[in-house]
Amino acid sequence: MKILVTGGLGYIGSHTVVELQNKGYEVIIVDNLSNSSIEVLDNIEKITGKKPAFEKVDLREKDTVSAFFKKYTDIAGVIHFAASIFVNESVENPLLYYENNLNSLIYLLKEVSAKKEMAMIFSSSCTVYGQADELPITEEAPVKKAEAPYGNTKQIGEEIIADTCKVTPNLKAISLRYFNPVGGHETALIGETPQGKPHHLVPYITQTAIGIREQLTVFGGDYPTKDGTCIRDYIHVVDLGKAHVTALERLLNNKNETNYEVFNIGTGTGSSVFEVIGSFERISGEKLNFKVADRRPGDVAAIYADTKKANEVLGWEAKSTLDEAMASAWKWEKKVRGK
Ligand code: NAD
Ligand code: WQD
Repeated sequence: MKILVTGGLGYIGSHTVVELQNKGYEVIIVDNLSNSSIEVLDNIEKITGKKPAFEKVDLREKDTVSAFFKKYTDIAGVIHFAASIFVNESVENPLLYYENNLNSLIYLLKEVSAKKEMAMIFSSSCTVYGQADELPITEEAPVKKAEAPYGNTKQIGEEIIADTCKVTPNLKAISLRYFNPVGGHETALIGETPQGKPHHLVPYITQTAIGIREQLTVFGGDYPTKDGTCIRDYIHVVDLGKAHVTALERLLNNKNETNYEVFNIGTGTGSSVFEVIGSFERISGEKLNFKVADRRPGDVAAIYADTKKANEVLGWEAKSTLDEAMASAWKWEKKVRGK
């Protein structure tokens, strides 16, 4: 069965392609390489023994998207990762984010909703919840006004898909609201490769430990949490990749209850920034150079998933511990730096 993976050379996309190929799916990746490199294709082949098909496509180009679907007429499902992903950048350049994340989605939906049958998985984010009123957070929690254009594109993206599904019974879709993806593949052939200074905590930690960054700044030590630092739900990217395959199969096997569904994808455990640092030091044997400084604007104090719906309805659960995720992130960093 042929599955289209947009943004499939990116961090989460590449790990998902590996899981799809491991389960025998034929994958075709489209990516414009704006935040990824073509070498990922060879590394996927090294892991799985099979090179996925690849087309360099910019999904913002409506006619190119249309031509792609004229060429590939037998696609059974789409996993849509392609998007611009940096919260700060989205504040500085909102139109880039609205154009890329929303136009790409709309052009893709126009094509897939015209098919006789189509399954679609959308990369959403826990960012749609903002600061939760109650923790752990369930899928029923209200979506709060987004702090940044990036989060707004995920909220609007979900609404666009839900509205399209309402009038398109042949289209089945699931939005997966990921919490904080971390780590890399056990082979250290694919992982998170930030361009320039990392925005995310875990690559900042590993780059500091390897000597590329001088010191990690912990953003805020005075939050109303167990140790004063922010709490997040860090999910191993391989578990996350597997969640996509499970969600896709739910749709392909007609197990869905409605033609648009939403699931939280996290571990259900909240870890503080100090706990993440502690985990890293434990698995690496390294002492991390860090200082506690001011809070980062826009950060919520604590968020972690209620995973009951994902566990019981979707039939997926996270298997890896934070230590395992940190060990894979460290292995990847060392491999990338030739150490
Ligand atoms: P990533 O940047 O590594 O992957 C995105 C890929 O999409 C890149 O390879 C990029 O080149 C490609 N792309 C971007 N715009 C494109 C376009 N117009 N046409 C074709 N390709 C395009 O990011 P990621 O961390 O793997 O995130 C994947 C998805 O998951 C995104 O939608 C992101 O918003 C969502 N998400 C990420 C996180 C996270 O913390 N990493 C958390 C929640 C949700
Ligand atoms: C994690 C924790 C920081 C860097 C982001 C997006 C969210 C979702 C996932 C896509 C926070 C702290 C970080 C540093 C630090 N993405 N931190 N020093 O902000 O939870 O979520 O990625 O949908 O929308 O906002 O992830 O990794 O940036 O931060 O102390 O140098 O680490 O304050 O508490 P975040 P993160």
